[in-house]
Amino acid sequence: MKTMTKENIIKIRKDFPFFYNNPNVIYLDNAATTQKPYILIEKEKELLEKYYSNVNRTASKFSFHTTELFDKSRDVISKFINSNFNEIFFTYNATYGLNYLALFLAYNYLKEGDEVILTQMEHHSNLLPFVYLSKIFNFKIKIWKLNDNLELDLNDLEKLITPKTKAISITYMSNVLGVVNDIKNISKLAKEKHIILVVDATQGIVHNKINVKELDIDFMVFSAHKLYGPTGLGIVYINQKHLKNINKKIPALSGGGIVSKVNIDDDLIDIGLLSFPYFFEPGTPAISQVYSFSHVIQYLQNIEYYNYQEYELELTQYLVNELKKLEFIELYGYNKNKPNDNRFAIVPFNVKNVHSHDVATILDNFDIVIRVGHHCTQLINKKLNVDSTCRVSLAFYNTFDEIDKLIEAIKEVKKIFKI
Ligand code: ALA
Repeated sequence: MKTMTKENIIKIRKDFPFFYNNPNVIYLDNAATTQKPYILIEKEKELLEKYYSNVNRTASKFSFHTTELFDKSRDVISKFINSNFNEIFFTYNATYGLNYLALFLAYNYLKEGDEVILTQMEHHSNLLPFVYLSKIFNFKIKIWKLNDNLELDLNDLEKLITPKTKAISITYMSNVLGVVNDIKNISKLAKEKHIILVVDATQGIVHNKINVKELDIDFMVFSAHKLYGPTGLGIVYINQKHLKNINKKIPALSGGGIVSKVNIDDDLIDIGLLSFPYFFEPGTPAISQVYSFSHVIQYLQNIEYYNYQEYELELTQYLVNELKKLEFIELYGYNKNKPNDNRFAIVPFNVKNVHSHDVATILDNFDIVIRVGHHCTQLINKKLNVDSTCRVSLAFYNTFDEIDKLIEAIKEVKKIFKI
């Protein structure tokens, strides 16, 4: 693990033009989206200016070259999570990826009466696709509830599982509570019971190194833009064991680019599907985004990004300690648990008797960006018994000095509202 030296942080912040262009802005909304390194902008520009052509389509040298760059990029991205080239496919974002997987499971794995377990800390993007499809395909949704520490207790999962349980779809890390779930043991239990495990790693992969093989995950989704990459790009992992007999499976989305043969006439429907990963990618993919994202990943690998987890933990500890000194702050989750490897980087709170939107507006006057609202996780709000919360979400480029400024601005909220 690395801690952050003064020289390190100055060097890293120089890699992100946002900070150069906005020297006074304190950006603490990293769970919504992260700032972008120069390399992303350079590489998008490079591909669009020099090599742009469609991929996998035509016999021109431009297309061959772009396809080669695209394939190399897929290789880099797949290795980042220790998967194989043909085990990942690209979609628009994590929400589309989760919708794809929910449909893919509904078409190919789930039957009437089956049960799917989701959790009370899921983002709506993981919750709603399964909920809507459960009405059409008549499978049942069960919710694994949070305990009083705002965590998921493995014993509660065991009680929910029945012989009808077909799938568990769970977030790696809560986008509101900062809780990191015990995916290793959830996966172990799922395997023992022959249950498919879907992981929403949208926040998880930003703060934790994920090895899909070690964790034995069946399906996983994450988005590029939360991991310092471009918008418009989601990555879906499918374990190769689910790629067997794929021609007998129905793709959730179809169209151009996924078929080798189409013959439709009267009663005849004869369709031959391409192999992976193309089977999953109808339409033109996000070519320049995939290319630039692969370079962002190489940048992260070069700076040994995941070694900064310790620094994110130290920042979280400092923030939580400072918030605890303010008697007018209601902290969620961190009262009982200190920041640790299982809960960090994302800190939810409220200023007592002040609406979170008022807090955000005042902080905005100090050029401090946080997120407020329900964070697309209304089941968590129900547990907390609130409509909305303030959320500070940290990244490795944040500093202790920024936290001091945030705390000073929060004290101004108290003055303005005379609480
Ligand atoms: N899902 C993103 C967030 O948590 C947008 O803010």
